[in-house]
Amino acid sequence: MAIDYETILRGKYPAKLHAQRVVQYIRSKVPDANGILYLEGRHTKLLEDSDMPEPFRQRRPFFYLTGCSLPDSYVIHDIETEKTTLFIPPIDPDDVIWSGLPMSVEEAKEKYDVDEVKYSNELNATLACIGNEKASVSSNATVFAIAGQVSEKVSFLNFPNTNFDLLKEAIGYTRVIKDEYELALIAKANAITAAAHHAVMKQVKNATNERELEALFLKECIKAGAKKQAYDGIFAAGTAAATLHYVKNDEPLGGKQLLLVDAGCEWECYASDITRAFPINGKFTPEARAIYDIVLRMQTECIAALKEGVVWDDVHVLAHKIAIEGLSELGILKGDKDEILAARTSVAFYPHGLGHYLGLDTHDTGGNPNYNDPDPFFRYLRVRGKLPAGAVITVEPGIYFCRFIIEPYLKDEKHAKFIDAEVLERYWAVGGVR
Ligand code: GLY
Ligand code: MN
Repeated sequence: MAIDYETILRGKYPAKLHAQRVVQYIRSKVPDANGILYLEGRHTKLLEDSDMPEPFRQRRPFFYLTGCSLPDSYVIHDIETEKTTLFIPPIDPDDVIWSGLPMSVEEAKEKYDVDEVKYSNELNATLACIGNEKASVSSNATVFAIAGQVSEKVSFLNFPNTNFDLLKEAIGYTRVIKDEYELALIAKANAITAAAHHAVMKQVKNATNERELEALFLKECIKAGAKKQAYDGIFAAGTAAATLHYVKNDEPLGGKQLLLVDAGCEWECYASDITRAFPINGKFTPEARAIYDIVLRMQTECIAALKEGVVWDDVHVLAHKIAIEGLSELGILKGDKDEILAARTSVAFYPHGLGHYLGLDTHDTGGNPNYNDPDPFFRYLRVRGKLPAGAVITVEPGIYFCRFIIEPYLKDEKHAKFIDAEVLERYWAVGGVR
């Protein structure tokens, strides 16, 4: 279902709704919770041995409760009154010379879904005042904050209690379910990313090196207003595509079959994540086409299986079943398909999980993965169990021909009997399709 993201994004980021949902979670764990939520944005930092700033990336928990991407900012959300107060950097005349005037409290109040905006030099006095007030009515008034994300100069001394355990968990849990505004942010990021992918596809025949296509992708995103990428883009030609997180993006394209592009921009801190693979010279080899068609079937059937309550582990297994069927039809796998599934031989060709939640992070919070699962099917599955309504999840199956991964399977009798090494020989050059 397409959403009219431009109209939705004319409104404000729903920071107060997020605060309410986070408090609801905290109260489900601590029914008499009272006091404040306290979060800090990311602070500006200089590069090591340099007077230049590090690239800035806003702290996600802070953004979730404010929609504010200014560095060196703070927020207090009062649990009882539901009042949100944002603290932004004051005007520093020295800094204005270099950086221009910062956002004023009036501008911030207009822009963000908060009740009050103050300058950050009022933070400690405000905390002391709220702390005294709260302590006078409750001996249990608590500052809920995130361990390791509270500046040394900040004081909670006037509050009877602090809790550094629950807030991160609460925000991580709450972020899984997206509201309409968040969906619009992701849709906007996706639209820009999709256009950049199309530009790369159109240009691939005229390019000679992976880096030219990375440059084109970045140009298209920046031109559309998306200055940040959600993750390091992958522009992998030929066998390089068998490296799942290949980021060298510096090899020639000549004589190679497919280009795999896995890249996505951010929009207002929200990620997109799109992968496509296509022939570099415009025409599939029969082998590349056959693998592409299997992966396409894995993707479309898995997407069709998605609904509230579906178990993600089962959808991931469905992708493996389709891979086994397709690779058996090509003769790469041989023998009983149920036995191949039980032996987990398809992991040699499809070693990663089907996808992950997407949102403020590319690999978004939630999902309860178990990276120690002894079953190789599920070791890299980032989401386990039932999918709730309102979550956003990527569906990105793949088939790869990576010698480092597959060759041990050819030497292991448990798996070797299911793989036809002679047929496989024709497919190494396909590299990978996701
Ligand atoms: N698309 C990159 C990743 O999910 O890791
Ligand atoms: Mn992904």
